[in-house]
Amino acid sequence: MRAEWSRLGFILATIGSAVGLGNLWRFPYIVGENGGGAFLIPFAICAIFFGMPLMMLEFAAGRRFQGSVITSLKRIDPRLRFLGLIPIGVTVVIFSYYLVITGWVLSYLAFSVIGYADFSEYTASYLPLIAFFASLLLVLYIVQFDIKAGIERANTYLMPLLFLFVLIMFFEALTLPGLGEAVAYYLAPEIAALASPRIWLMAAGQVFFSFSAGFGILITYGSYLSKKEDIPASTMMIAGTDVVVALMAGLIIFPIVFTFGFDPVSGPGLAFITLPAIFSVMPLGFIFGPMFFLLLLIGAISSLVSMMEVGVAALVDEARFSRRRATLLIASLVAILGLPSALSYAGWEIIVMGRPFLDTVDLLFGTLLLPLVAALLVVGIAWFWNPEEILEEINRSSRVQFPGITIILLRFVIPVILVVVFAFFIVGLMLGLDVV
Ligand code: ALA
Repeated sequence: MRAEWSRLGFILATIGSAVGLGNLWRFPYIVGENGGGAFLIPFAICAIFFGMPLMMLEFAAGRRFQGSVITSLKRIDPRLRFLGLIPIGVTVVIFSYYLVITGWVLSYLAFSVIGYADFSEYTASYLPLIAFFASLLLVLYIVQFDIKAGIERANTYLMPLLFLFVLIMFFEALTLPGLGEAVAYYLAPEIAALASPRIWLMAAGQVFFSFSAGFGILITYGSYLSKKEDIPASTMMIAGTDVVVALMAGLIIFPIVFTFGFDPVSGPGLAFITLPAIFSVMPLGFIFGPMFFLLLLIGAISSLVSMMEVGVAALVDEARFSRRRATLLIASLVAILGLPSALSYAGWEIIVMGRPFLDTVDLLFGTLLLPLVAALLVVGIAWFWNPEEILEEINRSSRVQFPGITIILLRFVIPVILVVVFAFFIVGLMLGLDVV
């Protein structure tokens, strides 16, 4: 008998998977740089019409076929036996560089207490490598327990803490004098920006990354879901929380940045250079600094455990590995794959396609390939699984009953849009356009 989540355990673990670095530092920037409030229109459209249906479909497939992404796809149709390897491969690669950034966060959590280090000096040292392995051990420790004692229990402690920190920092940010400037930068809509395909591409990419859709995570988590749970209602709650946390992250970060007269910059520059500089001087920065990095760390670790579970569940179901052995194997693989990313900012400076190795892998796997993998998953599930059974599984135990037209969305509209998104990224990149 397969392990089963409790209701709250499932919701918290999946929110844990969804809320991560993608919401806490990627979303605010993408919004600020892509039309401000206007970005929320394509984002909401992509979330409602593509992200949420895909989430429901993955949950339904996992629950109905009771297995890892490989096992579930194989049970849908034996011809799909190898399809599951693709999301697993992509997820393991994403895991490997996401872990490097998590290591930086872990180090900066320590620095927020003992004094911040200069980011380039830090990355040139071997400390990031130590932090990379320490973060991997933390993830490995959580995942090696069975699902209830490990991932479910960890999220039951971590998620309330994350919500609490978000709320405290949000209310603190609302009192800052830079709030008006921050809201003007972050949310003032530039409607003209909606004409640019870039903003639609970014919205679609961000929805999949943030919802953990297309990674195989939601199928795997769905395989531990009880028949009594309401898939559409859970999806709404998970996606809604994910979006609210992302919006709040911007309303936390930008007021701080503007109040202290800094320019909003993206990615590592923000979290590891700008914010530490501010936390060192702002009143109560000795409290908000550790709180911010702990928030990032919780978001990152709860996403990483879900990425690891994708591979672990496949090894347990398909190769009959014990959880512990499976966890060790995936962790070893990630340790090897992540090394070039971990070292790419260090003295070694591994540059590929004109960027540090880590950024290139993020671009290729986290941005470009993800929509394509999501398209393959949707096609695999929605085309090979009987449409009546899909609807029956989605609607089981649900108060809202989705009509047959949902199948058209899943079979035709979503895969076509995903392939178009992928093609636009590739063509844009080949033409040297500013698409990512
Ligand atoms: N969904 C995770 C994030 O947004 C991967 O970071």
